[in-house]
Amino acid sequence: MALSVSSSRQPSHSPLRPNSSFAFENPISPVDGGVHPVIHEGKVAVITGAGSGIGRAAATELAKIGMKIAIADINEEGLAETRKEVAAIVGEPNVLVIPTDVSKLDEVVHLRDKVYEHWGEVSVLMNNAGIGARGTSWSGLDAWHKIMNVNLFGIVNVQQTFVPSLIHQENPAMIINTGSKQGITNPPGNAAYNASKAAVKSLTEGLAHELRETPHANVTAHLFVPGWTWTGMTGASGVQEKPAGAWSAQETVLYMVRIWRIPALRLRDRLCSPLTLVSLQLDRVREGKFYVIVPDNETRREVDQLRIMWAAGDVAEGRPALSRWHKDYKALFEEYIRDGLAILD
Ligand SMILES: NC(=O)c1ccc[n+]([C@@H]2O[C@H](COP(=O)([O-])OP(=O)(O)OC[C@H]3O[C@@H](n4cnc5c(N)ncnc54)[C@H](O)[C@@H]3O)[C@@H](O)[C@H]2O)c1
Repeated sequence: MALSVSSSRQPSHSPLRPNSSFAFENPISPVDGGVHPVIHEGKVAVITGAGSGIGRAAATELAKIGMKIAIADINEEGLAETRKEVAAIVGEPNVLVIPTDVSKLDEVVHLRDKVYEHWGEVSVLMNNAGIGARGTSWSGLDAWHKIMNVNLFGIVNVQQTFVPSLIHQENPAMIINTGSKQGITNPPGNAAYNASKAAVKSLTEGLAHELRETPHANVTAHLFVPGWTWTGMTGASGVQEKPAGAWSAQETVLYMVRIWRIPALRLRDRLCSPLTLVSLQLDRVREGKFYVIVPDNETRREVDQLRIMWAAGDVAEGRPALSRWHKDYKALFEEYIRDGLAILD
């Protein structure tokens, strides 16, 4: 028997309703100093998709910390521009340019060999290359293959190639896989992209667990989920201005990097400091925070949290797929967000 809209909604009993504790973090034990053991001067970062957008911003921001940067991309012109920017920050000897198509295993093996040959180890491996080719549920088969080959198998190729080396090297490392909110809440519009990013979430969760369970593996995995970021993928071109709702690639990357880098504050200071949120984020990552969900100027963190809970509620509470966009549930969803924000604010 189908549930009616009203009977499926039991606000006060649903474990998926936000409650006041949702907004607060547990007090976190103080940490020493502000330097992450992995994102650190002199360490090595490998970034795929570094020829533009978020990957380029990651390359320049990590260079500002004094890291050595290996940049990989299929777009050689983009790589040349990134090289120039990174070299200006950290010097030519600390930039390695390796044109790579991540969908091709032999090219990824070449990338690993080059980096280890030059620098002997890797601290940050950022799987960021991605495309936004469009495929709907029953059209665009070519786009489905392309997108899966880059967004999914690109990461699988890199993981399969690098992780055995990362596990056996002396110093710790982290793997950052770039996912998307579209892989979590699955908004209609590009089924192929959403499916590829849902797969990235799933494989990164599996990776984190497997690394945790591997004795002596000093490697962690993290899912980096940008908000709306103004890059080539989302329509940026030299002449167009960034829409007010989007963040720049630099803002998105800084949000992630600051999570690890801002010196920890004592708990007492945190409670009255404007840096409270950032320092709490920092401590969560130090404690192994896995999901790094980035806001933008249009979607604040609390709205993301509520949308994610609603999406989980479709499954747990037996609503139709993607009920957020279902005509019978739209009003209910909007009310849920209103109520949820009232509780969280
Ligand atoms: N821009 C956003 O709003 C947004 C939001 C969520 C997630 N993301 C993700 O962030 C990542 C970076 O995207 P971006 O927004 O900076 O877009 P972008 O197009 O500027 O950067 C993507 C880069 O990946 C490279 N690339 C494409 N195919 C490749 C391949 N086969 N091998 C190697 N490199 C390849 C491209 O040449 C490009 O330089 C992607 O994984 C994207 O899905 C972006």
